Amino acid sequence: ENNTISLQELSKEPLLAVPPHYIQLDQESPCSSPSHLMPAIPIVDMESMTLGQAKDFELQKLHSSCKEWGVFQVVNHGVSSSVVEKLKYEIEEFYKLPLEEKMRYKLRPGDVEGYGQTIANLTDQNIDWGDRFLMVINPIHKRNPHLLPELPSSLREAMEAYFKETQKLAKVLFKLIGQALEIDKREMEDMFEDGLQLVRMNYYPPCPQPELVVGLRPHSDASGLSILLQVNGVEGLQVKKNGVWVPVNILPNAFVLHIGDVMEIFSNGIYKSIVHRATVNSVNERISIGMFFNPNLEVEIGPATSLINEKNPPQYKRMPMEQYVKNFFSRKLQSKTIIDQMR
Ligand code: SIN
Ligand code: FE2
Repeated sequence: ENNTISLQELSKEPLLAVPPHYIQLDQESPCSSPSHLMPAIPIVDMESMTLGQAKDFELQKLHSSCKEWGVFQVVNHGVSSSVVEKLKYEIEEFYKLPLEEKMRYKLRPGDVEGYGQTIANLTDQNIDWGDRFLMVINPIHKRNPHLLPELPSSLREAMEAYFKETQKLAKVLFKLIGQALEIDKREMEDMFEDGLQLVRMNYYPPCPQPELVVGLRPHSDASGLSILLQVNGVEGLQVKKNGVWVPVNILPNAFVLHIGDVMEIFSNGIYKSIVHRATVNSVNERISIGMFFNPNLEVEIGPATSLINEKNPPQYKRMPMEQYVKNFFSRKLQSKTIIDQMR
């Protein structure tokens, strides 16, 4: 029974072949161009965007990255490296814990939060080669009492410190995105301030036949903005740009920022969420942690009214955020299906 909860545990037994229900043969190969010919994911420097003379130039770069890519890496982001390093260490320690300890957080039937394989809320046969651990962070009263508050205290403290700093970063990014899009400041704040925030740790064990599986299947994030940290220095994230799978290389002291579907909707399609996937390899385990910044649960999502006029009619429907979240969790993770419902 435990093996169906944790792929990490299953993978501890010597495996010569992938069990059939993990096989997903329909995956497209990554871009085979030599790396110097591969399109490069943009890098945005937060420091020169908020101070310094290159301010307008860098803001323009943020804008074009969100428009043309929907993904970028941020450097000089202000999140202290001691907080990041501590978190990385604690996450790696967490996965070294015996299974019984991790089972305290297991995904229960019908739940979306908790630790386990993605099998719990998928109805199709084939599942992804990874374990995830999803939790609500904010609003605080929505925190699940058997999850975050019950984590080993060193991990919990490392997470809280990390949340605090990434929340500041997200707030600055929302503000700058609002400026770049010329969205009314108040409207931007009302949408994203003190919103629903989730965290997800991802654990991908090594796989004897990595080309037969996918760590996390192609999807766009449903969020406003996502901040991803690649925890243990093992690469595997790929984004689909112009029909080609482009690997995201790990930069020291950087985060990967994804524009999510809600931001695509709010920007009335000026920004685009990007489809991405996690691949695995035969040698190393891979760990990542994503934070998802969403609108407040009380708002209605839809294109920003300050962007709508006669020349720019709304490209997406409106929907209560609460409904949007429900729809998201009742569907399979797949490409851009959530946003496709709102066109
Ligand atoms: C994600 O798409 O949220 C995670 C991707 C990764 O593990 O790099
Ligand atoms: Fe994602």
